[in-house]
Amino acid sequence: MLLRRPGEDTMRPLITFILLSCLLPWQPESRANAASSAHSCFCQVTGYLDDCTCDVETIDHFNNDKLFPKLQKLLETDYFRYYKANLKKPCPFWNDNSHCGIRDCAVQPCPTDAVPPGIKSPGYKYTEAANRNGELECEKEKRLGAVDESLSEAAQEAFSQWNHHDDNSDDNFCEHDDEESPDAEYVDLLINPERYTGYKGSDAWKIWNSIYEENCFKPKAVKRPLNPLASGRGKKKETMFYSWLEGLCVEKRAFYRLISGLHASINIHLSARYLLQDTWMDKIWGHNVTEFQKRFDATQTQNEGPRRLKNLYFIYLIELRAISKVLPFFERQSFLLYTGNDTKDLETKQLLIDILHDAKDFPLHFDENSLFAGDKKQADRLKEEFRQHFRNISRIMDCVGCFKCRLWGKLQTQGLGTALKILFSEKQIENMAESGPSYGFHLKRQEIVALLNAFGRISTSVKELENFKRLLDNV
Ligand SMILES: *[C@@H]1O[C@H](CO)[C@@H](O)[C@H](O)[C@H]1NC(C)=O
Ligand SMILES: *[C@@H]1O[C@H](CO)[C@@H](O)[C@H](O)[C@H]1NC(C)=O
Ligand SMILES: *[C@@H]1O[C@H](CO)[C@@H](O)[C@H](O)[C@H]1NC(C)=O
Repeated sequence: MLLRRPGEDTMRPLITFILLSCLLPWQPESRANAASSAHSCFCQVTGYLDDCTCDVETIDHFNNDKLFPKLQKLLETDYFRYYKANLKKPCPFWNDNSHCGIRDCAVQPCPTDAVPPGIKSPGYKYTEAANRNGELECEKEKRLGAVDESLSEAAQEAFSQWNHHDDNSDDNFCEHDDEESPDAEYVDLLINPERYTGYKGSDAWKIWNSIYEENCFKPKAVKRPLNPLASGRGKKKETMFYSWLEGLCVEKRAFYRLISGLHASINIHLSARYLLQDTWMDKIWGHNVTEFQKRFDATQTQNEGPRRLKNLYFIYLIELRAISKVLPFFERQSFLLYTGNDTKDLETKQLLIDILHDAKDFPLHFDENSLFAGDKKQADRLKEEFRQHFRNISRIMDCVGCFKCRLWGKLQTQGLGTALKILFSEKQIENMAESGPSYGFHLKRQEIVALLNAFGRISTSVKELENFKRLLDNV
């Protein structure tokens, strides 16, 4: 029994546990105390995870040594590197009043070379023009946040044929972009990596805030800890939040933890691919330990950081379970990862199947019969609730003011949505015939690409933790 049902009173008093397990003195400026920097982020992120008997170390080992390298290879293939998205949809919830040029950027993509070279050079910042209305900052954000839409001609030609290989299905967790819309375009994920873009502060907060506040089954009266937009912070709020969370049924708690895990993952990427140096000659991206600590260090985050990291492992396990469950769908003989090159398509399929088998062989999956599998009526209602909340989150992504963040936000929410769709369809997938059409369950190319790329991001984050651990040991 890996998961606790809400009725059972085996729930661990989370806060007590964390306080007891790690309240060690912390010395911020002490360089001599080498181990403590890493300790302060990671000491609580070890051993068993809540709601699961899986432990962090087993996941680290499985992911970093086995799955991660294969996944990287898979995501470089033509099938998986091109993702079609409509980045021009207007925000349905509020007027997008971003503070600067990013807003125009959202309507008109601004490719890197459209920015005049003069602006890219460091000398520009001292000219009068640059200082008008903080334009330089805006240009910088615009430039970093822009999506490079250039594609090879061969790729473009292939796309026109790909579409025939998709069916329709409306059992979706996300508001899918209308792929027929003239605004939907293919983007090459390899030339648009997820990394620091300068998109932060109040705009980014607004997005995450509405995701947490309005879409995590949370009553307004219960405040999330460390939310700068919520008034009155402190221990009392925190206690209230966590007792609310513990009181939820396991699935709804899972929903919150998935969002938190996704958030953590995105922040790890931004800290791991931080813009360290920006001159006209070259840009250097790399690990910024300070940024990482700001988001995950126990002391600097009033103990929230380690919880966030645990939620990263949680989303890892959920997505891992989904990809292991969907194996029968991909294993069917008739299933093709179609790009037009038969040899390559077959190789890609083999690699994918190999990865899915690894996922299936992972020994510590969630208990099959607990999560998402209560009695039929209850499960259906829960599924519907999940879907509504999740669709809403995918629509919020249209409000992200920075193109590149919007792209990866859409992709990752769609990937998570696809994972949930799989977990809620376990029965149909198990009963799927070896050949013939896959009645009752289908994944579109866009969903498949999103699922694997989203899992690739989480997998990369878990791997990055290893790097940050090492870097923090030397701080
Ligand atoms: C690292 O991030 C911090 C903000 O957390 C920033 O102040 C600092 O300049 C960054 N370091 C480098 C080398 O860019
Ligand atoms: C198809 O893929 C194979 C293996 O990746 C490659 O060697 C071959 O050149 C490709 N064929 C075409 C027509 O692109
Ligand atoms: C969807 O999100 C919007 C904006 O955050 C919110 O106003 C609305 O109540 C949400 N609806 C649901 C069903 O969560």
